Amino acid sequence: MLAEIKRRNLPETIPNGLTKENWAAYKKEMIALFEKEEYGVTPEKPGCVRWEVEKQHDTVGGKAVHNLVKLTFETPMGDFTFPFDTVIPNTGKPVPMFVYISFHPYGAGQYLPIEEIIDSGYALAIVNYNDVTKDTNDNFESGIAKMYPRRNDGTDWGKIGMWAFAASRMMDYIQTLPAVDREKIYVAGHSRLGKTAIWCGVQDERFAGVISNDSGCSGAAVTRGKKGEHVVHITKNFPYWFCKNYQKYIENEDSMPFDQHQLLALVAPRPLCVGSASEDEWADPESERMGAYLAGEAYEMLGLKGLSGDIEIPAEPGDKQFGGKVGYQLRKGTHFLSRYDWQRYIEFFNQQ
Ligand code: GCU
Repeated sequence: MLAEIKRRNLPETIPNGLTKENWAAYKKEMIALFEKEEYGVTPEKPGCVRWEVEKQHDTVGGKAVHNLVKLTFETPMGDFTFPFDTVIPNTGKPVPMFVYISFHPYGAGQYLPIEEIIDSGYALAIVNYNDVTKDTNDNFESGIAKMYPRRNDGTDWGKIGMWAFAASRMMDYIQTLPAVDREKIYVAGHSRLGKTAIWCGVQDERFAGVISNDSGCSGAAVTRGKKGEHVVHITKNFPYWFCKNYQKYIENEDSMPFDQHQLLALVAPRPLCVGSASEDEWADPESERMGAYLAGEAYEMLGLKGLSGDIEIPAEPGDKQFGGKVGYQLRKGTHFLSRYDWQRYIEFFNQQ
């Protein structure tokens, strides 16, 4: 893999002169770069965030409490409200939590084995991303998108940024819950929402860790030299996920002043777990593993262990490398967030 990394001519994870001392300033600069060139500029944290808990009842056979929360915050165009759900085990002591950015409304869809996660001792906060803004090319007219005027200068935020921003507003609420361990709140997502989880965790340090499942292009996979999807495809099919500037790099990826491993690196020093599926060629498992491995160099610079294991050995389905603060796991099969994946992520965070 090292020869392959060299061949791809990727930007250095640790540019000359980067040290522990100037890491925070570097991180700030890099976030500004990713805002300007890829995901768009995130608005300021709203001044006023409030919520109502609409329903409260026992779930999972009495092992947990389910709440429907309606969260409201100020925007330049007035108040915006979106719903999300929490499921918190009745253990009587603060528990870790996954903030899961979901493709589906609570209780629907096939990616979230709620009972198993609760039984593992984790709470969940679940937002249906379409309740934040629709995953369609709607001219930024649905949900939160219409609440923020656009400058049309190439840097306006795309929907990945909006979904990530909503997860941070959920965090505003979760921070107030005595039943949740504030030091152990992790953000998780699959595919386009894995990209979102990374971008959210990078910007919001209240998240103690990040799970990226099969996030591929513009997520955990390094872009230069990857297989499957590239900037040309993703910006053609989903231009509204990104800022307009990202389109400058169509068929011109070598000129990007960044690559995705540098984004993953910004999760440091907090734990990061990247998962791939062996037959997910569009996302490209090898490039996802490369992203995780190279991000590990930032952890090492900070005196922590990055991605453990021998990077020269190709990962086989079922392999996991969980020895450090960066984890990587490869599931056999196609693009999906499976029960098996969740078991691996829980195993990884239990070890931290
Ligand atoms: C498409 C897209 C990917 C994305 C995926 C998903 O395949 O090209 O970038 O990750 O959808 O979100 O399922």
